[in-house]
Amino acid sequence: MAENAGSIELKDNTVIVVLGASGDLAKKKTHRNQFLPNDIKIIGYARTKMDHEEYIRRVKSYIKTPTKEMEDQLETFVGLCSYISGQYDQDESFINLRKHLEHVEGDRKEQNRVFYMALPPSVFIPVSEHLKRNCYPKKGITRLIVEKPFGKDLDSSRKLQKALEPNWSEDEVFRIDHYLGKEMVKNILILRFANEFFGATWNRNHISNVQVSFKEPFGTEGRGGYFDEFGIIRDVMQNHLLQVLTLLAMERPISFSAEDIRDEKVRVLRGIEAIEPKDVIIGQYKESPDGYKPGYKQDDTVPKDSRCPTFCALACYIKNERWDGVPFILKAGKALNEQKTEIRIQFKDVTSAIFKNRPRNELVVRVQPNESIYIKMNSKLPGLSMQTVATELDLTYRRRFSDLKIPEAYESLILDALKGDHSNFVRDDELDASWRIFTPLLHYLDDNKEIIPMEYPYGRQSHDITKMSVFKFD
Ligand code: NDP
Ligand code: BG6
Repeated sequence: MAENAGSIELKDNTVIVVLGASGDLAKKKTHRNQFLPNDIKIIGYARTKMDHEEYIRRVKSYIKTPTKEMEDQLETFVGLCSYISGQYDQDESFINLRKHLEHVEGDRKEQNRVFYMALPPSVFIPVSEHLKRNCYPKKGITRLIVEKPFGKDLDSSRKLQKALEPNWSEDEVFRIDHYLGKEMVKNILILRFANEFFGATWNRNHISNVQVSFKEPFGTEGRGGYFDEFGIIRDVMQNHLLQVLTLLAMERPISFSAEDIRDEKVRVLRGIEAIEPKDVIIGQYKESPDGYKPGYKQDDTVPKDSRCPTFCALACYIKNERWDGVPFILKAGKALNEQKTEIRIQFKDVTSAIFKNRPRNELVVRVQPNESIYIKMNSKLPGLSMQTVATELDLTYRRRFSDLKIPEAYESLILDALKGDHSNFVRDDELDASWRIFTPLLHYLDDNKEIIPMEYPYGRQSHDITKMSVFKFD
């Protein structure tokens, strides 16, 4: 095992290997913003056969370069990249990868290697074993970045942990949940704990409910094979949305150190009750009303009798003094009417004696797009009368921080992994605690063949879908 693998910052003398470099993640989330150390090298690895020119052509097509300066930066960036194809289950392929690594590293005394598994979970275990056996350097620091979903339920997640344990120390493993790298998600702890007025009201005495919603205006196009095995609950809710919920609900950490934050996250996760089927709505999209957008089951990679949910809304509860009785409502859906991820903290009604039917206060954190934080509040309408009007205190980032660039989640997290900072990565015991909340529900949905998701047309509003159900969230 490499010494001090934990928190040493990796700099120029490092190679990042992206396994699954031909895939959707690499395509959608490749960025270059000059944050990486100058001399770092990047190797793409996947089964797809491509020569160097084809790979560079693909990388270039993923990155937008609206200015000449950015075009020049892109040229420098692709100069750091190379590609090698190979299988995920054969020593020979990984021996080739090692040789390529040694070639790229030249005569460096230390080989610092970061392996990024941008792969479907089905190959995480064999790939991690082959990497350890064939590509783990004798001298230097090695890190393994693992993508979500980390398993399919509590058992498979434990199996994955067990498979990693003998080969990789917890210090070396970075389980990435890219929602933890999003600017507004990183802001949650600051908002809560650096503002007395939020701190003081952040509990069941003042808060009626908490909502975290994720909407996408596109279906599973091209990813049906992966998605059908997982569904929206495993794809987005058990990880991204639950991470957001955890940050909203946890107690103040003793410090911002990775372990102090993660200790508090685990504590609150352990207080969340397993989700009950009666508190859940599931849906699956069908063709759009104009027939232009295909339904989920029209995707060739999806079985025609699939019961896989592409929409889910559910309520969960935290059994502790702060949150007892407050519903935390999570909603996620593909093929809806818009792209939006939002947190809504709805406060309780004010005493009604002098105010009739006033809307509740609400704190809204728009995670994406157009990052913003606003508080819905009541105010006097300017003028002679005492008329009350619902208005907003608005912190829209584009206006307030117009000269600052918000980093992409992956940029920020990959830099954290190079720095050895685990604060925004998932710890092994967090995984256990989070799967415990979802596993009974997932097994119930998997096992009961008579449970069919409600159909909704492509492009529908999530609000309309929850209204279609007998269980009311809104
Ligand atoms: P892809 O389905 O695009 O797979 C990535 C690569 O893995 C493919 O290009 C393919 O490369 C190889 N691959 C695909 N299917 C199999 C298979 N059955 N067996 C072996 N290899 C296979 O996945 P994504 O890039 O979308 O996702 C990768 C990981 O990243 C997943 O864990 C996902 O949850 C996560 N993720 C994805 C996001 C996204 O927006 N796409 C966002 C956040 C996380 P080849 O055939 O060339 O070897
Ligand atoms: C991924 C899911 O984890 O997150 C995808 O696998 C989803 O299905 C994606 O589209 C959403 O990420 P973002 O950053 O675009 O909100």
